[in-house]
Amino acid sequence: MKKTEILTQITEAETASLHISDEKYRLFFHLMPPVGWLNDPNGLCVYRDTFHVFFQYSPEAPDGSGRKVWGHYTSADLVNWRYQGTPLVTDTVWDRDGAYSGCAFTDDGNLEVFYTGNVKETGDFDYIFNGRQANIIYTVSKDGTVFDEKLPLLTNRDYPSSYTCHVRDPKVWKQGGQYYMVLGGRKKDEHGAVMVYTSPDKKDWSLLKEMTSVEPFGYMWECPDLFEMNSRWFLLCCPQGLPSEAERYQNLYQSGYFQCEGFTLEDTDYKCHPGAFWELDHGFDFYAPQTFTDSGGRRILIGWAGIPEEERYGNAPTINEGWQHALTVPRELTFDGNMLRQYPVQELDSLHGEGLSLEENVIRAAAFDMQLTLAGNRQSVRLDDDLVLDCTDGLVTLTFLNDTGAGRTCRTARLPKGQRGIKELRILKDTSMLEFYINHGELVFTTRYYPKDVTQTPFALTGTVCRLHLWKIQKMNVHMGNLLTEYDMQKL
Ligand code: FRU
Repeated sequence: MKKTEILTQITEAETASLHISDEKYRLFFHLMPPVGWLNDPNGLCVYRDTFHVFFQYSPEAPDGSGRKVWGHYTSADLVNWRYQGTPLVTDTVWDRDGAYSGCAFTDDGNLEVFYTGNVKETGDFDYIFNGRQANIIYTVSKDGTVFDEKLPLLTNRDYPSSYTCHVRDPKVWKQGGQYYMVLGGRKKDEHGAVMVYTSPDKKDWSLLKEMTSVEPFGYMWECPDLFEMNSRWFLLCCPQGLPSEAERYQNLYQSGYFQCEGFTLEDTDYKCHPGAFWELDHGFDFYAPQTFTDSGGRRILIGWAGIPEEERYGNAPTINEGWQHALTVPRELTFDGNMLRQYPVQELDSLHGEGLSLEENVIRAAAFDMQLTLAGNRQSVRLDDDLVLDCTDGLVTLTFLNDTGAGRTCRTARLPKGQRGIKELRILKDTSMLEFYINHGELVFTTRYYPKDVTQTPFALTGTVCRLHLWKIQKMNVHMGNLLTEYDMQKL
């Protein structure tokens, strides 16, 4: 297909978003695709005082069957956003079948992007061991919206022969005058692993080491992110193929981090310990998070509030509205000496509207923020007469009793450090999404749900409540621009 045809298709589909068929489940304060499908956050960064959030985007089809390109939002404050169009599309031989996930980097005054060009060769292939090209592509923007020519940096022949063709999702950073890149991969012996590359100039990359696990821990690790915080190294990744256990690994694919005891960049290969793997979110919908640091030094994480290939959830009701999936709110990451905690960035407080009371056990707002201080070893909250978050002696369960979960059933996790009760609970409710932050982000549960009436939430609570604050949340301002951005016009 010619470049112009692809672009025409995309922009036509996007224009159709102006007529999204029903707004019922559209979200107030989470980033969504203008129309169609969204998955991973990509290229998160601050560039010239502006936050950039790119995302895996397929405007053509809300069921995810279309080609993946990059969508783009920008913001000065994480609550007022502007949609910037689709700056990276599938217009070269290296990314013909998808401009897959990647990162952004800004040390030279430009916004530079490293991403995965996915190519599926025509023929009788399994696309795991053969038939797929995984190209790491580099492209530069001098203004943060328009990208120059694409340059392939690494192709299949650069990866060790022990890897299948599933290699992707570059994350780049700079340290001590050198550049580093992590890539997620699936090895031929069905081990998930991460390769660490290094470069003096961002163009010429060589393999430094491999990070895998002492014993098999899933067959593929997607979306890696490796960073140091409080003198400790953390490897974020999304292992696929972990068997589900009673209190963990209950989603189809996992998303979490290894605490890499004794890791240094200089050493050779590193083996992670499955026992040092912590899940980031225990809800039904969370995957492919990325982190970045802002100018104040905060490390902020944004995840995809979704899961790939999860058939148990059935067809999302939002498909009938012409869209599917969203990102989580930006979450500040901190290390408390034991584990990483996630908490909504403070900027979100500026969306607080009027304070609400709980008197009639119904919360009359499509979006709200509830902050509770609790006591005791047994707590339970019930929303919409269906979804129950329960904590009994340290075991936390999130259970749909009826059908607002559209196929979601139950998720379980244990409070860390032998704690038996929830002390603090924050519930962010947004029409069709919930994020529960327990004990200031020690455990997080994210889920989509589809109540019949999104404008009011029947609410019941048992347990000892010491304090309760409840605010309406106002809609974020998301400026859709002209959809056909100037850049798209130029390209056409
Ligand atoms: C994770 C993922 C990435 C890939 C992208 C494609 O959800 O599979 O590994 O780059 O999605 O959209």
